[in-house]
Amino acid sequence: MNILIMGPPGAGKGTQADVIVNEFGIPHISTGDAFRLAIKLGTPIGVKAKEYIDRGELVPDDVTIGIVEERLQQPDCEKGFLLDGFPRTLAQAGALDEILGRLDTKLDHVVDLKVDRDRLMARITGRRICKTCGATYHVVFNPSKVEGICDKDGGELYQRSDDNEESVGKRLDEYSNKTAPLLTFYENKGLLRQIDGEQDIDVVSKDIVSLLRG
Ligand code: AP5
Ligand code: ZN
Repeated sequence: MNILIMGPPGAGKGTQADVIVNEFGIPHISTGDAFRLAIKLGTPIGVKAKEYIDRGELVPDDVTIGIVEERLQQPDCEKGFLLDGFPRTLAQAGALDEILGRLDTKLDHVVDLKVDRDRLMARITGRRICKTCGATYHVVFNPSKVEGICDKDGGELYQRSDDNEESVGKRLDEYSNKTAPLLTFYENKGLLRQIDGEQDIDVVSKDIVSLLRG
């Protein structure tokens, strides 16, 4: 099954992506994660991406499309994949159709997590991530048992450099201007499935899994 999960920054894409990939045994392709890894490793793409990400702007399409094209050609994607955070512009969506066409496959579902803009700032500024395993927590909505420490492996929790109010404001504007138009694009293809992302995390997970199992 080839799935795309969409939603504004903080909607819960990463949180729900973990559930979906476990449930369906498919690889998780997150452009945000790919950029953060490149930044950590100090690669040329990472150096270029960091200036955009810290400002809350989208990384240029050519860089982003190249990363996804390479990843989708890996053999583990033959059994299906979950795209998270890509595409984010109409140009990226067009490029994805071309890439999938060349690979003789297509998207089966586009899951859109609907969350009101007012809630997103609180979700993002309270997010904490494990340095060791990447698990996502929230200081209020999904706290770890011991403050600052991952439940799974005792790793230290940190805050993303783009999770400050200024960057988040810009990210939300970028979403409204450049990414929201993709909802109509996928609706017109009959692929769009909307989920109420304001419910508790496990209720959202159940809704997504039953929709995809449907
Ligand atoms: P990316 O990493 O994709 O970030 P994003 O889209 O801004 O999304 P987030 O990771 O902030 O949110 P999420 O929806 O995954 O929410 P999460 O599950 O963590 O991209 C980062 C940057 O990289 C971009 O700004 C851009 O610069 C660049 N980039 C990436 N892809 C690109 C592309 N295709 N083109 C160009 N540039 C690109 O949840 C958030 C918090 O809420 C967590 O603390 C969580 O615990 C909590 N939470 C989750 N669900 C719930 C719930 N149901 N109730 C209460 N709390 C919840
Ligand atoms: Zn951890």
